[in-house]
Amino acid sequence: MSNHTIAVYGASGFQGVLVLTELARRGLTAVLVGRDADKLKAAAARAGTPDAELRVAAVDDHSALVAAFQDVDAVINCAGPFTPTGDRVVAAAIAAGTHYVDTCGEQPFLRHVYETYPAAAESAGVTVVPAATDGGIPGDLLAHLLGDHLGPLAELTSVHRFGGETAMSRGSLRSMLGIAEAMTDGGVAYVDKAWRSGPFAPLAPVPLPGAPEPVALAPFPLQEPISVPRHLAVRTVRGAVEESTRALFATPLTDETIATLPVGPDAGQRGAGTWTIVLDAVAEDGRRARGVVSGPDTYGTTAWTAVAAAQRLARGTAPAGVLAPAQAFDPADFLSALAPFGVRWAIEDR
Ligand SMILES: NC(=O)c1ccc[n+]([C@@H]2O[C@H](COP(=O)([O-])OP(=O)(O)OC[C@H]3O[C@@H](n4cnc5c(N)ncnc54)[C@H](OP(=O)(O)O)[C@@H]3O)[C@@H](O)[C@H]2O)c1
Repeated sequence: MSNHTIAVYGASGFQGVLVLTELARRGLTAVLVGRDADKLKAAAARAGTPDAELRVAAVDDHSALVAAFQDVDAVINCAGPFTPTGDRVVAAAIAAGTHYVDTCGEQPFLRHVYETYPAAAESAGVTVVPAATDGGIPGDLLAHLLGDHLGPLAELTSVHRFGGETAMSRGSLRSMLGIAEAMTDGGVAYVDKAWRSGPFAPLAPVPLPGAPEPVALAPFPLQEPISVPRHLAVRTVRGAVEESTRALFATPLTDETIATLPVGPDAGQRGAGTWTIVLDAVAEDGRRARGVVSGPDTYGTTAWTAVAAAQRLARGTAPAGVLAPAQAFDPADFLSALAPFGVRWAIEDR
């Protein structure tokens, strides 16, 4: 297997260090990129790779960013919040001719990347796959398999659930603060073959695995309404979380409060956490099926998915452009590759 070199922008953050650790575990060479040399050095040590190469590049220094990305095989951008500055990292990766993934969970940024960069990425021969996270990749891939199973879909509803202690990193909380409006009104859904902004009508309660009663849902700005219509014949795609989860996020913490919190969940909290994505599909002919994909440790899963995605792009087999996960990767193959990390998936008729 070739030893690809992967640049990690925002390498000094909580998610960045997990990504560095996963790159090392796979025997891939990491180049740490960010705005602060001391923080990058400390991150390299935390990841157990103290001799890794460091490159300092501020996000608003286009030439430095392009130079930092020029001779690597792919970039993993972990520098959130993405909405204010992520654009510059995408543009620099494309200018450097280097494939790009990120750990973004901000629906407005995801949509922006899909709408802004396809032509530039195609002409540069670069593949861009935004939202290579626990929330962005498994649900998109499973949605594609549901489409294979049922044929053209009238409706797809994705519900993201979290189990165990909901411990979030400071970076995640800052990202949520930056998209508070979308989180309140449900963000964007794909309705009757067009992307539409909330607020949306309440969703009917649904039976969910392990819940004794049908569960109340709230529309939520997830990734699937943005990514899935790019590769599936589907009329409507909605995102939702349990109403009780949305209530937790209803009043975002302030920047001042976030700064007082731990940088992220510790290993015990990460190990106790779980994530589940439930996809309910109704075919145009009325048949129904449910896909469920679940796993442990949201931040660990994000490190595995982002690195697995970057490694696949580095092999150069995906087409150029801004692609949804199911356009860049074989869905069943990618999901199966996550099995050693405890990721399980299944589709059942209903
Ligand atoms: N499922 C999901 O949606 C999912 C899962 C996991 C992670 N994420 C996202 O991943 C992102 C990172 O999370 P985290 O916990 O690692 O955050 P973090 O610990 O705050 O780290 C953020 C990183 O980004 C860098 N950064 C931020 N703003 C920058 C700027 N303007 N210029 C240059 N560098 C900048 C920081 O550099 P300094 O150290 O120099 O400040 C740091 O390296 C968040 O947006 C989070 O929401 C999403």
